[in-house]
Amino acid sequence: MKVLDSDFAKSFAKLANDGFIMGYHERNGGNLSYRIPKESVEAVKEELDYSKPFADIGTAVASLAGEYFMVTGTGQYFQNVLERTEETSGIIEIDSTGTKYRIVWGFSGGGRPTSELPSHLMNHEVKMLATNGKHRVIYHCHPANVIAMTFLLPIDDKIFTRELWESMTECPMIFPSGVGVIPWMVPGGREIAVATSEKMKKYDVAIWAHHGIFCSGDTFDSTFGLAHTVEKSAEIYIKVRSVTDKKLQTITTRDFIALARDFGIDLSEEMLK
Ligand code: 13P
Ligand code: ZN
Repeated sequence: MKVLDSDFAKSFAKLANDGFIMGYHERNGGNLSYRIPKESVEAVKEELDYSKPFADIGTAVASLAGEYFMVTGTGQYFQNVLERTEETSGIIEIDSTGTKYRIVWGFSGGGRPTSELPSHLMNHEVKMLATNGKHRVIYHCHPANVIAMTFLLPIDDKIFTRELWESMTECPMIFPSGVGVIPWMVPGGREIAVATSEKMKKYDVAIWAHHGIFCSGDTFDSTFGLAHTVEKSAEIYIKVRSVTDKKLQTITTRDFIALARDFGIDLSEEMLK
């Protein structure tokens, strides 16, 4: 089968396009990666080319040795991914040590994987181990309201989680563990990758101050839906905050406990204190 005919490549490109339509991807902002199941790799094997050299990842992800990922390219615009998937994106194979990768498909114009590859792969490693292999998608985007929030609130997981949960009733059900927030750091390297993957041990969402968010999920739909929900809630927070810094009423801790009980959700105790 051709890669472009596979369900995973179609869903990958659709997510990129949906993110562009939502305004989360100015210019080359954001990046996406997918850990491809073994049987899907087998199905497209005829198109994979193993002649390219291995390159350094820039960090070590031993548990991902031998895994294949579809990833967006550095400098590529999300608005082009749907129409020009093979040029803007590619498939990489991780070597047996988990420190190198090689391109086996795509990046047809001579491109290479996103500069955030260390963060993507470290997040994949953490989430693969934490979810028994269920999580396969890591998505990074630059949604305006989440970024705006990081100028207004202390960089604190609980404070961000509570404001996001309070801004929209469904939020605690969609991210019951809450969100992690990390202070501004230089993008693209190992340091930010380590900080993000630490947050991913606890959460499915990590907010990068003044930059954007990383989300992890099992399917393309649920991962995009998570980013969309966080951004929608942030938009409500910013709208309220733009009018007043005093809320007349909100969803209280007692309300969250009632919601958790009635919907059978395991809300983070830490966030309810
Ligand atoms: P890339 O173009 O290298 O994917 O970088 C975009 C980005 O959002 C960096 O954080
Ligand atoms: Zn970014």
